[in-house]
Amino acid sequence: MAVNGTPPPPPSLPAHPDPATDAVLGSGLLHELAHAFGGPFHFLLPHRFDANLAAFRAALADAGVDGRVYYAKKANKAAAWIERCAAAGAGVDVASTGELREALGHGVRGENIVVTGPAKSEELLRVAALQGALTAVDSLDELDRLTAAPRAGGAPPPRLLLRVLPPAQPGSRFGLDGAELEEALAHCARAGDAVRMEGFGFHLSGYAVQPRADLAGHLVDLCLKARVMGLRADRISIGGGFAVDYAAAGDWHSFLATQHPGHYHARRRFTPADFYPYHSPVAGADALRAVLAAVPAGGRDSLGSRLRETGTLLLMEPGRALLDRAGSSVFRIQGVKDRDGYAILTVDGTSLSLSEQWFNSEFLPDPVLVPPAGRAGGTRRTGGTGVHPACAGGATCLESDLLTWRKIPFPVRPSVGDLLVYPNTAGYQMDSNESPFHDLPLPPKVVFDATDDATDDATDDSPVDTGDGTTRGGRPRWRLDRRPAC
Ligand SMILES: Cc1ncc(COP(=O)(O)O)c(C=O)c1O
Repeated sequence: MAVNGTPPPPPSLPAHPDPATDAVLGSGLLHELAHAFGGPFHFLLPHRFDANLAAFRAALADAGVDGRVYYAKKANKAAAWIERCAAAGAGVDVASTGELREALGHGVRGENIVVTGPAKSEELLRVAALQGALTAVDSLDELDRLTAAPRAGGAPPPRLLLRVLPPAQPGSRFGLDGAELEEALAHCARAGDAVRMEGFGFHLSGYAVQPRADLAGHLVDLCLKARVMGLRADRISIGGGFAVDYAAAGDWHSFLATQHPGHYHARRRFTPADFYPYHSPVAGADALRAVLAAVPAGGRDSLGSRLRETGTLLLMEPGRALLDRAGSSVFRIQGVKDRDGYAILTVDGTSLSLSEQWFNSEFLPDPVLVPPAGRAGGTRRTGGTGVHPACAGGATCLESDLLTWRKIPFPVRPSVGDLLVYPNTAGYQMDSNESPFHDLPLPPKVVFDATDDATDDATDDSPVDTGDGTTRGGRPRWRLDRRPAC
């Protein structure tokens, strides 16, 4: 509502407070790194990945369900995550030969890899089979190609799952429909020892719990049917799609209720349906708990009970949820221009390093302004008093290259040389769409590692690892995710 003719400021959407990210932001190191790299960069907090993975495993253990977690590698290309998977004995979901090579090259065992994606190349099918990876077969011709591939003498048969076209999402281009499944099952039964048919899988769009439990229940029934045909069929994969909760419920709902084209550069129009659900009451490993506790349609027992009773292993492929709060993206402001009551910032990178824009949407959690002298007075949450709205554009000649169309209500006026830190960007934002457009370098990734010798009772004054990637009494320790090529 306008007070004394002054329109209310554009709404903000602060990300959930995060001490580990705040520690990095407050360290002063980000400006040094921006100077060193001379362009945008991302920072990663692998201990967060470890914690998210542990939470998924705890959800399985608490439900008494035997299961395996495969990190969906497409969500972020960094080496750090697959190094963590290798160290923890977790799996990786890959969808290309490049991703498969990366996973194997960082020590993930072939048997811990699941290969997804449509119409896989001959090379991908061949290497997957040779490495003992599990291939999620997406079509009948792929099944033919996988089973017909020549095998070295004594090599084990190819391991496969049959990916199911979700009946509730018939428009999906992935998976086998009912008739194709029948044919695929008959094919596997005929093939005998030449294939190892381990079960069924799906990946659903959206984040709802019940449809996942419903389809998982159906897949358990399919496993029982396949076992009668002499097939192994002892596991199902429920894919990914575990939501991430970026922001508080109140902030999210009031943002959706108030946002309108006047809050965006060029009066760009977004409807609530255009946005990722930045608040989710049930997210991450809690979503897995909810799926396991739900009763699949037509049944009486929870999914967890069905899995236990039928001796069925549960596989899952979370991407975004394993990366929750595990990284942020840092841009330096290199231009500030005033326009009709707001500022247009130009940063030293592009929206290709904040992918949401490329899905006709917007990454909404507020970026944090970090001037060289230290973090600005704060967002609305931390009590900043001023309101200085600004959108953020990329350093390209494209009208549409905006990292944020929204006029973000900054607590102080942004200046050239300030950093803009977008929080919680590891899941799909950092590098899915990155491009060296305009010969701009790809943003490097900086890792803040926690180490095993972290201790709270050190007696000397040397910097001590706090276990969260920062040091007590010292600077964060950092390294590049990948060493520069010689
Ligand atoms: C087959 C498959 N598995 C897993 C995922 C990961 O999904 P999310 O990152 O939402 O968990 C995807 C995402 O597209 C997928 O296609």
